[in-house]
Amino acid sequence: MGKTNSGLVVVALISCFYLKFGTGTDTITAFKSIKDSKTIISEGGVFRLGFFSLANSSNRYVGVLYNQVPVQTVVWIANRNKPLKDFSGILNLSSDGNLVVLNGKSEILWSSNVTNSAPNTTTAQLLDSGNLVLYNGDRNGVNLWESFQHPSNAFLQTMKISTDVKTGQKVEMRSWKSPDDPSEGNFSLSLEPFNIPECVVRNNDQLYFRTGPWNGRGFIGMLSMYNVYLDGFSLVADSEEKSYYFTFELSNTSIVMYYEFDPQGQLIEHQWDDGKGEWVIPSSVLLTDCDIYGKCGAFGVCDSTKRPICSCLKGFEPRNVEEWGRGNWSGGCVRTTLLQCQNEGFLKLKTMKVPAFPDWLSSTYGGCEDQCKKNCSCVAYAYDAGIGCMFWSGDLIDMQKFPLGGVDLFIRLPSLELDKEKRKSKIIVITTVIPGVVSITIFALCLRCWMAKKRGRKQNDKQKLNKGNARAISSRKDEGENSIQDKLQQELPLFRFKELATATNNFHPTKKLGQGGFGPVYRVKTMAFSSRSIFSQLTFLFVECAGNTR
Ligand SMILES: *[C@@H]1O[C@H](CO)[C@@H](O)[C@H](O)[C@H]1NC(C)=O
Ligand SMILES: *[C@@H]1O[C@H](CO)[C@@H](O)[C@H](O)[C@H]1NC(C)=O
Ligand SMILES: *[C@@H]1O[C@H](CO)[C@@H](O)[C@H](O)[C@H]1NC(C)=O
Ligand SMILES: *[C@@H]1O[C@H](CO)[C@@H](O)[C@H](O)[C@H]1NC(C)=O
Ligand SMILES: *[C@@H]1O[C@H](CO)[C@@H](O)[C@H](O)[C@H]1NC(C)=O
Ligand SMILES: *[C@@H]1O[C@H](CO)[C@@H](O)[C@H](O)[C@H]1NC(C)=O
Ligand SMILES: *[C@@H]1O[C@H](CO)[C@@H](O)[C@H](O)[C@H]1NC(C)=O
Ligand SMILES: *[C@@H]1O[C@H](CO)[C@@H](O)[C@H](O)[C@H]1NC(C)=O
Repeated sequence: MGKTNSGLVVVALISCFYLKFGTGTDTITAFKSIKDSKTIISEGGVFRLGFFSLANSSNRYVGVLYNQVPVQTVVWIANRNKPLKDFSGILNLSSDGNLVVLNGKSEILWSSNVTNSAPNTTTAQLLDSGNLVLYNGDRNGVNLWESFQHPSNAFLQTMKISTDVKTGQKVEMRSWKSPDDPSEGNFSLSLEPFNIPECVVRNNDQLYFRTGPWNGRGFIGMLSMYNVYLDGFSLVADSEEKSYYFTFELSNTSIVMYYEFDPQGQLIEHQWDDGKGEWVIPSSVLLTDCDIYGKCGAFGVCDSTKRPICSCLKGFEPRNVEEWGRGNWSGGCVRTTLLQCQNEGFLKLKTMKVPAFPDWLSSTYGGCEDQCKKNCSCVAYAYDAGIGCMFWSGDLIDMQKFPLGGVDLFIRLPSLELDKEKRKSKIIVITTVIPGVVSITIFALCLRCWMAKKRGRKQNDKQKLNKGNARAISSRKDEGENSIQDKLQQELPLFRFKELATATNNFHPTKKLGQGGFGPVYRVKTMAFSSRSIFSQLTFLFVECAGNTR
């Protein structure tokens, strides 16, 4: 009791002190710098700013860390490229009004490096969002500098990954070299406006991974996006300023989570699990070989369920057969018959990741094919309700076949090639039908022999016959049940448990709408099932659990 009271007194004294001087525990001013082992904490106690070391290293860094979780979790680093070698560091506001990290010899290791017209009134404040901002005087004015515009490897709520088309200025994430070396790694993640905006990962300035275009709800070229809980994500295009940004904000404020852009160039979700006392990764979003940009070269399609993963589009063949056979697919494929811009049609490929760099035209579904047909340089088109028509000319690069999701992609081919396709399917029918007919005939003959034999035996064993009849009846009854089940399956398609788990984010409580007589009702992401007709119309999923499956 006495302890609590004295604690209250101390708190009261501290509040008095800060009220008097107009600063809180979350700010740095010209009169208040922070030395190593001291920290400042955001108002709600969510984040802290201070000095730390990483495992297996004696280097000291200044940065923003989660304060509300007991595990050291770094979300931003000031001096990531120039670590302190001892405990003599200081984070200070310099006389020119910049935030600076100084070592024991007062050498500047890092600076916010902005021109500040009123350095005397400058304050730095750590917000509960994890953003460290520098402003002078007017808190409602424009910030001079903020850490959210110079991200490290953590993507936090309300942070904006942005590109200004006019000035070319980008806010992009930059990976660490390794888990114990936060200096700038090879991977960057940025938002590219292109014709239709999408996010891309670059490896040493080379395109490494692309998410595919944004359709208003998600990126259509990311299979893992169908697994990720996407609520709260938005991509905003400010048409006047021509600046685009990608951000997220969860409606459930009690979820503690962030995305880490890891040293392998992957964006990994981390969610705090209070029960376990550690960060957990809710869904695997690891990149596969097929996600690597241009893995199969021009006009090659990647399918991670096939071996080899790369194949040429129909009507194409490897540019260099020997290289292709060795598993070097970067050379890609070439047409077996050139396009003449007449007598041509389109080959439909389902559940595809669309190729890179589409042209865009807002249009209704029916119009896309006509538009493409009219233009001789158009080699493929696709349609997404959230985007409109997408067209491609030149090489088609970075196509992937998804097991589900994606879009239908239509490839321009000479009628000759399309006919070949049709003939091929006819051949398949013939080759399966003829042996089928033959075996049925043989089976019928055998049956007749057997029946004749049986008829002969009939008179000898009446009891056996009765049993046989009983079996026949019961098997007929089975048949009846089967046909009902078939009908049910046609009207109420069955889905695998995995598909349901994916659609409901592992039966996540936030996806549950309520409980009915048949069982719980979940809201499902319809796009996960876009290839299954029933789900393109349904938004609600009734889950009837047989027994205690969970
Ligand atoms: C630190 O080193 C140990 C042993 O070498 C290793 O097991 C551990 O993974 C390292 N930790 C980090 C964060 O690299
Ligand atoms: C911190 O900054 C103030 C104002 O620029 C300066 O007077 C002070 O010497 C600095 N402290 C250190 C330790 O450099
Ligand atoms: C500070 O910015 C100027 C230009 O704005 C640049 O030339 C200089 O290299 C920057 N310094 C540091 C330490 O980043
Ligand atoms: C800022 O401080 C310097 C000395 O520290 C002083 O000469 C100057 O007048 C101050 N400027 C303002 C606007 O207060
Ligand atoms: C980054 O790229 C360079 C050049 O390609 C390479 O030498 C280096 O090993 C890469 N670093 C990491 C951490 O992958
Ligand atoms: C793969 O083929 C390309 C040319 O198509 C060549 O430039 C490259 O060196 C080859 N890579 C390997 C690993 O053989
Ligand atoms: C034909 O398509 C290409 C590429 O999609 C585009 O650049 C060009 O403007 C189109 N031409 C016409 C006449 O629409
Ligand atoms: C918010 O998330 C927490 C933790 O996951 C959960 O317990 C709670 O039910 C959620 N609240 C709502 C309104 O979804």
